[in-house]
Amino acid sequence: MNDKLAIQGGSPVVTIDKSEQWKRPIKKEMKLIKELLEDDFLSGAGTGLPKEFEENFRKFIGAKYCLTTCAGNLALMSAFYAVKVGPGDEVIAPVWSFASSYAGAIHLGARPVFCEVDPRNMLIDPKDAERKITKRTRAIVSIHFGGNICDMDTILEIGRKYGIAIIQDAAHAHGAEWDDKKIGSFGDITCFSLQGSTTTPQSGKPVAGGEGGIVTTDSREFYERMLIYCHLHRPEIRDLVTPDYRIFDEEGLGLKFRAHPLALAIAQVALDNLEYRIRKTNEFREKILKEFKELSGLEPEYSYPKTKRISIYGGVKIIYNPDEFEGLSCGRFVDAVKAEGVPIIKGPGSTQKLQHLKPQFSKGFDLWGHNRGTLGREFLNLPQYIGYKKGDFPIAEYLSENFFTIPTYIEPKEGFFDQCIEAFQKVVKNYKTLLSE
Ligand SMILES: Cc1ncc(COP(=O)(O)O)c(C=O)c1O
Repeated sequence: MNDKLAIQGGSPVVTIDKSEQWKRPIKKEMKLIKELLEDDFLSGAGTGLPKEFEENFRKFIGAKYCLTTCAGNLALMSAFYAVKVGPGDEVIAPVWSFASSYAGAIHLGARPVFCEVDPRNMLIDPKDAERKITKRTRAIVSIHFGGNICDMDTILEIGRKYGIAIIQDAAHAHGAEWDDKKIGSFGDITCFSLQGSTTTPQSGKPVAGGEGGIVTTDSREFYERMLIYCHLHRPEIRDLVTPDYRIFDEEGLGLKFRAHPLALAIAQVALDNLEYRIRKTNEFREKILKEFKELSGLEPEYSYPKTKRISIYGGVKIIYNPDEFEGLSCGRFVDAVKAEGVPIIKGPGSTQKLQHLKPQFSKGFDLWGHNRGTLGREFLNLPQYIGYKKGDFPIAEYLSENFFTIPTYIEPKEGFFDQCIEAFQKVVKNYKTLLSE
């Protein structure tokens, strides 16, 4: 191995590019799309292909009810509505998250309250979530980032103990399991995203159709509330059984969050080949985990024992320990690895994941104008908003500067993985040369 680091003028180790060889089955997508176009089926839900897709996904997950929406964030919003999140409530979300995970709750009049993450995997820390519970807390959002599953036993137990709904954000976790049960088949409501494409694991969600979302639940009441909230003209609204909701006609409460049939046609093909892509990307992840055992100071994210995770979207996070590298910053280490040709997808400085440091949460925001809303003065039974500041979440803040993410592949080119590992070994072996710069 040539020891001179590429970042210092040496030759990069990784010479194989365009490393993903898997091809999305576009012909299958076109066949389904052609049928929809010929049938003039460009709008509608609760019938035809959209209904078939929901049935197929519902059976795949093993849930009683499944509804598709036009985006994952709106699937989440309808879930918050279903569990009766409303003005003056609080909703707890991990501070290492994504605006879409809790945005729906804000728009329904609730205040997001952030909690810490587990230092081993950046997933919600249930104990800190419990500490953040007040009499106003209505729901907790647990996000299965990158298909790695939150500690669901503890979170569901907290939900039961305090009578708080648990919404699972499974935007990246279609087909993942907890305790041999598919994510989406237990708990209150689970939400999935269909955003992007499946061209490579990083170009979209594990089941993708451009834009779209899905909710699954076993609760008849939650299902009915979602129907009336945002599924204008769905035929199922005629068959509601909950007395309070039987007053509605097919217009429900008037919102229309339904998915586009063409998007669901593409998503159907993705669902058909999901298990293959899960298997292949799992194999890739297992190779990463095996090789990183030999690289001290670089710890792959932890999975709880009951997890059968997937690794299609979001890659595999590696937690960097600067003490093992005499204080060399993770940013400099990652720059050196990238210079060797390794495609790192996220790394230090991805502060957009730290929600509390966004100005709307540190300074507050006049949400609905006229000095109203949850991020300003008192609002209904919410006290005055006190902004977050740096230092409020030391674990998440530390991790945001000391991690990076390696993408997974479905059908990587022969030799590509070995070159990537060789690149890491080279940087680890020669890190001292980066200290003296
Ligand atoms: C963790 C997480 N939650 C929710 C969403 C929202 O999904 P959508 O983009 O379909 O609205 C995303 C999308 O990237 C996500 O990554």
